[in-house]
Amino acid sequence: MTASTENRGQFGSKIGFILSAAGSAVGLGNIWKFPGKAYSCGGGAFLVIYILMVVFIGTTVMLGEFVLGRKTQKNAIGAIRELNSKFAWVGGLGVLTGFIILCYYCQVGGWTMKYIVGYIIESSTIYADPMGYFLNMLGANGFPLQGAIIFPLIFLFLTAFIISRGVAEGIEKMSKILMPLLFILLIGLMIRSCTLPGADAGVMYMLHFDPSTIDANAFLVALGQAFFSLSLGMGVMITYASYLSKDDNLITNTGIICFLDTCVALFAGFMIIPAVFATGIDPGMGGGFAFATLAGVFMSIPGGTIFGILFYFLLFFAAVTSSTSILEGTVAFLVEEKGMERKKTVVMVSVVLFIIGVFYTLSQAYMDLKGIWISREGISYPIFGDFMEYLTDRLLLPLGALTTTVFAGWIWGTDNAIKEATSDGKYKFALAPLWAFLLRIVAPIAIIIIIIAGMFLGMSIS
Ligand code: TRP
Repeated sequence: MTASTENRGQFGSKIGFILSAAGSAVGLGNIWKFPGKAYSCGGGAFLVIYILMVVFIGTTVMLGEFVLGRKTQKNAIGAIRELNSKFAWVGGLGVLTGFIILCYYCQVGGWTMKYIVGYIIESSTIYADPMGYFLNMLGANGFPLQGAIIFPLIFLFLTAFIISRGVAEGIEKMSKILMPLLFILLIGLMIRSCTLPGADAGVMYMLHFDPSTIDANAFLVALGQAFFSLSLGMGVMITYASYLSKDDNLITNTGIICFLDTCVALFAGFMIIPAVFATGIDPGMGGGFAFATLAGVFMSIPGGTIFGILFYFLLFFAAVTSSTSILEGTVAFLVEEKGMERKKTVVMVSVVLFIIGVFYTLSQAYMDLKGIWISREGISYPIFGDFMEYLTDRLLLPLGALTTTVFAGWIWGTDNAIKEATSDGKYKFALAPLWAFLLRIVAPIAIIIIIIAGMFLGMSIS
């Protein structure tokens, strides 16, 4: 054990690890990203593809990250270096990915806080024009001081503050209380949304399997979304598993975390899409689903404003438990591998990512505009939003996941990987041969095909 691993502490309990890993996985990806993607990629057919991606590729990669982390007891880069130092650059890739994700993650995290405050002080303004309120936050009527600067800054400050103090204690304890609460609230709101007058068209849309909506793009979006939602492809799960001991059953943990994360995404889908149909608020492609649409649900239930406050508070919390896991990945690399001082690193990284992130929100108000630069009031802004998501979800996360599978399956070898997964034979793993096959053959090939297809599709879309 190196000095740095000794300092990192351990998860206090088995359930603490599951909830912390689930806390990293369950985030804006499930509630803000997923419903919009399901809606625009064909509803029911997309759900089927998404679930297949999680079951066959997501679980395979997650267990791959877990075995690498627990075996080496190191952060993502350290783990890869220990197995083969030639590949240490891959760690740098993960850090870049996390950095780009955080640029926009903190912005959207800030929006959740803006909505907490919004429902507390001006819910009637939101109810009067939900879409207008959302666009206003993004800067449709003047510079979005709150949406792009003030709230994202508070969100980032909180994330950075937690990270600079070390994650384990606080996050683990909070996760134990708040994650189950989020789950219950989602189910309640989902039921209400599905029973709104006119919601059945939305429920049908999500349940109807229409094969004609399946195209290469749907596979691409589903895979990228699965990696993003399960926190795979940048070594976060390697790092989390490095805190575990041989007593922990990695196989069942993988199953539980993937199951919980997918449930939350599906609940969010069935909470938001039926509301889109019932209220007629179609937020387009700009990520407004979790913000503008839900006003229709809160408006229609007794005490809805309280539910609104609670909902955005829990969404905010889900976002923080994820953003800290991403920032931790970036900071741990710079501290443990490059010898930088922790607090300084946190501040430096935060400042840069905040400045870039501001452009994300600015570019959202112009989502109907194509092109790289847009001009407003004499200032040109780059259309960052789509580009950042393209780069991370279609390229960088799949590349990171590919590395994990190749590492665990080929360089380290499936015999070693299975031995680690079963804690040296302590736990049963009936599907071990299947996992080995998926890890070595199916997942890498599928990921490569999807990355290549994505490059061509990506070009033709933009
Ligand atoms: N999974 C989180 C979400 O759904 C985001 C996230 C946290 C993430 N850690 C990650 C994504 C690591 C990719 C890699 O919101």
